[in-house]
Amino acid sequence: MVDQTSNINDLEWAKDYTKVPFRVYTDETFYRQEQELIFRGKTWSFVALEAELPEAFSYKSTFIGDVPVVVTRDANDDFHVWVNRCSHRGAEICRSRHGKSEDGAFTCVYHQWTFDASGECKGVPFRKGHQGKGGYQKDFKTSDHPLQRLRVETFAGLVFASFVEQGSSLSEFLGPEMVQGMKRVLCKPLVYLGVTRQYVNANWKLYTENTKDPYHASLLHLFHATFGVYRSTMGGGCLVGGPHGMHSLLSAYTIENEDKAEYEKGDLRSYDTGVSLADTSVLKVIPELEPVFTNHIQSIFPSMILQQIHNTLAVRQILPKGVDKFELIFHFFGYQDDTPEMQAARIRQMNLVGPAGYISMEDGEATELVQNAITGDPDHHSFMGMGKPGCDSEEDTLLTEALLRSYWRGYRQFMGRDEMKV
Ligand code: FES
Ligand SMILES: [Fe+2]
Repeated sequence: MVDQTSNINDLEWAKDYTKVPFRVYTDETFYRQEQELIFRGKTWSFVALEAELPEAFSYKSTFIGDVPVVVTRDANDDFHVWVNRCSHRGAEICRSRHGKSEDGAFTCVYHQWTFDASGECKGVPFRKGHQGKGGYQKDFKTSDHPLQRLRVETFAGLVFASFVEQGSSLSEFLGPEMVQGMKRVLCKPLVYLGVTRQYVNANWKLYTENTKDPYHASLLHLFHATFGVYRSTMGGGCLVGGPHGMHSLLSAYTIENEDKAEYEKGDLRSYDTGVSLADTSVLKVIPELEPVFTNHIQSIFPSMILQQIHNTLAVRQILPKGVDKFELIFHFFGYQDDTPEMQAARIRQMNLVGPAGYISMEDGEATELVQNAITGDPDHHSFMGMGKPGCDSEEDTLLTEALLRSYWRGYRQFMGRDEMKV
């Protein structure tokens, strides 16, 4: 039993990566380490869709881990990300989620220091004092007081930021497998369709696990299995990618002559032939992306998921809010060249996901079920032994926990403070 340990690798793990100690979801010490080593470490975090900031001086406030950040678009259509913390005395500058600065300035309400879209300090009230008294010293320069600016890169309509000044490019961080998968969905200019937000009382990594877990999807979700959106007997597979195998792509597609015997035996709660929909329009799929997948769930470490389920497209964002709480955001999008019929189908199919989605509703609940059960006595562990032993991609089955094992192996490398080139 481990008590008050500060090194993740002192916990009891299994050599074959099939055990995860529950303390990783409950311990404040590890939560704080994650903020430093993961969110402010050698990673790139998704912060916005370009389409969320449609014009010059549009802005959006969000978080990278626990740190509030602001994303802006400048007059040259370049994107900037800065920490939402005034360089004077630390006040939050931007106090709304979205908007547009009419004059391109971002002014802190406390003493009205003013910054431009790139985070450069442009003005300080009473800088020279009043009638020769007070004010800052002669050598004071506004240029010495920018906001904390992060590295920014865009990829196919998405904006990412990193706290690390030197290091891998975004495409190196994503890796070729994930770049290829993302391009499948992010293949055309995007339009932003809307957002849902929810709070879940569980550790953020439990939701990450959920998006790498094809096993649960057809068992937890009655809607998935019953209406054929996803079953483990469909075609599909799991691909690992990125630094230390932290990213993943889980894809499923319909196959002819699918063997549904396991479902039809009648002992799976989630396959119910007695259930039907009065209005089946939500199930109407308009064929589009190649290769044709019913489900494309791409988990990009640390906190983004790119999702295509039928015609509904979204970027999910996981924002940790303490060791046992996270905010889950679905950013829905379509393509600029969508027909009105296609856009209507995407909006209708949003009903599948989000906080009250026919499918996703249960995912938040499942993560809370785990958190509830482990918090009181976290000196136990989960078991994730399904599929071929090891952490490699399994491209021909959905009945595997390989993506989870790969994730946890990589997590230990990030958190173990090993020197890593990522
Ligand atoms: S804290 Fe922002 S201007 Fe003083
Ligand atoms: Fe799920």
